[in-house]
Amino acid sequence: MDALDCLMTRRSIRKFTKEPVDPELIQAALAAAMAAPSAGNARPWHFVLTTDRALLDRVPDFHPYAAMTRQAQAAILVCAEPALEKYPGYWPIDCAAATENLLLALHAQGLGAVWTGVYPDQPRVEGFRKLLGIPGTIIPHSFVPLGHPDMPSGRVDRFQAERIHRESW
Ligand SMILES: Cc1cc2nc3c(=O)[nH]c(=O)nc-3n(C[C@H](O)[C@H](O)[C@H](O)COP(=O)(O)O)c2cc1C
Repeated sequence: MDALDCLMTRRSIRKFTKEPVDPELIQAALAAAMAAPSAGNARPWHFVLTTDRALLDRVPDFHPYAAMTRQAQAAILVCAEPALEKYPGYWPIDCAAATENLLLALHAQGLGAVWTGVYPDQPRVEGFRKLLGIPGTIIPHSFVPLGHPDMPSGRVDRFQAERIHRESW
């Protein structure tokens, strides 16, 4: 799959088979996440990888839109350590770039995943803090359940010519 195909065919996958995920594929996706751009190249991120069924099953208790986690074979919580920033305030954007790289790398390797929003929703931030023992200096940003896809997905066209403003607005 070339890069543009990967971008255009990535879809949120919310149904997963029971097939375990090769840890090497997850490792490659984490490397891709860490290759994302960040303000001042500060890379203010951490990743909490969870495959523990009991932990995964508890996520929907505090995240109302993460029921698919009960089917996922693994999940990655993308977190920020704002103290690592060079230019304060950019960490949510940096972590979003890392999350998107993560999704694309999983898709490129034939896996499925979905970005579930965490920050700035405080009950979800606190829920992950408690569940996964995240220290107070670290902020949970996004949560990505993943596995082998068990639902169809494909290319969608969301091109909107009117959103492109040439030379000036
Ligand atoms: C910041 C953010 C938060 C999201 N939160 C959730 C979520 O909590 N649960 C969920 O099922 N999908 C979530 N999504 C996925 C979107 O619903 C999905 O990306 C969108 O509908 C477009 O579909 P696609 O990803 O298949 O292209 C989130 C996406 C983003 C970028």
